[in-house]
This record gives sequence, C-alpha cells and structure tokens, in this order.
Amino acid sequence: MCTEKMKIQIIGAGTVGRATGETLSRFGHRVIFHDINKEKILELQNDGFEVSKKPISQADIHFICTPEDVVEKAIDQLTTSDGLIVIRSSTLPGTTNNLAEKHGRHISHNPEFLRAAMASWDSLNPDRVVIGECCKNHGDILEKLYKPLRAPIVRVDPTTSEMIKLASNATLSSYISFWNEIHKICDIIGVNSHVVGKVSCMDQRISEYGASMHGRAFGGACLPKDLDHLIAFSEEQGYTPEMLKAIKDINERMKT
Ligand SMILES: NC(=O)c1ccc[n+]([C@@H]2O[C@H](COP(=O)([O-])OP(=O)(O)OC[C@H]3O[C@@H](n4cnc5c(N)ncnc54)[C@H](O)[C@@H]3O)[C@@H](O)[C@H]2O)c1
Repeated sequence: MCTEKMKIQIIGAGTVGRATGETLSRFGHRVIFHDINKEKILELQNDGFEVSKKPISQADIHFICTPEDVVEKAIDQLTTSDGLIVIRSSTLPGTTNNLAEKHGRHISHNPEFLRAAMASWDSLNPDRVVIGECCKNHGDILEKLYKPLRAPIVRVDPTTSEMIKLASNATLSSYISFWNEIHKICDIIGVNSHVVGKVSCMDQRISEYGASMHGRAFGGACLPKDLDHLIAFSEEQGYTPEMLKAIKDINERMKT
C-alpha cells in the first residue's frame, strides 16, 4: 500500500480510465471519475465510485484516458488546475511534449498495455509500468504511486514512452500477420499451421503470441488503429515503413 493518499481525477472513464481508477482506489487513493458519457457516470455511481459531471481542477494527479483526438480538449479544461497532468492515451510520439509546450504545463505520458477483455486484472498485474516523465518530480511521484503493483518501472522521456506503446502494439500485430501468412502457405500445402506454430514456439526465442492464435485478422479497438497511426506518423516523418504496411496488408487480406 502507498502510505501517502492522493486525490486523483480520471478524465475518460472507458476501458483504460475505469481500470486505472479501480486499481488506484484499491491502493487507498481517492479517485474521482469524469466522463462526458452520462451512462458511464451512472454505471460508476451505481458501482460505488465517486464521479463528477465536470472536470475538477483540484486534484494531485489528473489522468487523461480519453481517445487520442480529445486529449487536448481534456487538457484545455485543466487550465486552473495545479496537479500533475498525465496522459494515458496512446498518443503519437511528440504529442505530450507539444501539448506541454503549447499549454505551458508540465505533462507526462504513462501508457497502458492492458487487454480490453481482462482490463481489471491486467491493470493490477502489468508486466511493466512505463513512465514518460516530463521532469524528475513527476517521475518520482508516479513511481511511488505505482510501487504497490510490484512491477518493473521504467522511466523514460514522454516521446520514448509514446513510441514504446505504439511499437509494442505493432509488435503484437506483426506476430499475428506473420503467423497468418504462414497459415496461408500451410493451407495451400495441406499442413496444419497450428501444429507448426505450437512446435515452433517450443523454441524459447519464438513468442507464443500469434503462433498459437492465428487464422483470422486481428481487430479490436487498438491494434488496427495504432498500426495505422504508426504508419501515417512514419510517413509524415518521411520514412516509408514497409514492414508495418505489410502487416496491415496481410491483415486486410485475412478479412476477405
Ligand atoms: N481499450 C484498450 O484495450 C486500451 C489499452 C491500452 C491503451 N488504450 C488507449 O487508451 C485510450 C483510451 O482507450 P479506451 O479503450 O479506454 O477508450 P474508451 O472508448 O473505452 O473510453 C474513452 C472514454 O473517454 C470518454 N470521453 C471522450 N471525450 C471526453 C472528454 N472530452 N472528456 C471526458 N471524457 C471523454 C468517452 O465517453 C469514453 O468513456 C486510447 O488512446 C486507447 O488507444 C486502450
């Protein structure tokens, strides 16, 4: 348990926001949720959580867990706040620093890696916690906050943190597309690709992800979106990401 109890606002109480708030309230912090969706607010209230119809300005930490395209709107509503602003959304590399500069605020990035279907469990049992700190003070406070999770805590700068999140999801997508390609070849020659996958990943260097789960396109709210964002971002930087595009193309073909 964290000894110092904090007042924490969660802006955007969807999959990530709710799981973050639930985890932090388990550690004894006072968590207040804000969401523009009235049904979400009602659901949280019914589950015994504290909610606010408007974003509150007085909190030790404001976690922004909205879709990426409204992160700035959420920050706009915190002009009179004095707490830490921390973006949990999967923003493009450079976004947190740009918003910090534009708003004249210290803003950190702290990506979430949970699986939507196991949000509460994954939030409480992360493989690692990444803190994209804007300054040592933010990093120290966030490290202390997450200490009860007993997970490795990695402190980097916000842009690295944003890239870690997109690269992690692109890696998972690549495993699925890779094994879907093997699956297509196996189909042609009459071989069971799941047997090939299962035996291949007995080699400790080969991940089970994709080797055991393949045969259809990857979907969900994040993998296709984050891959698209990383492709577009790379191209904006003047780099054509051939492999990322192949991952997407294979996935598109799997849908037909
Ligand atoms: N779902 C996942 O498995 C997952 C995992 C890791 C990271 N992420 C990332 O986290 C971010 C949030 O994803 P999510 O799945 O929780 O989304 P979600 O759609 O489940 O939740 C987003 C919430 O934000 C609310 N919202 C929108 N605009 C708002 C505003 N202006 N003020 C307050 N609330 C507002 C919505 O009503 C919604 O409840 C995204 O960037 C996503 O890529 C998602």
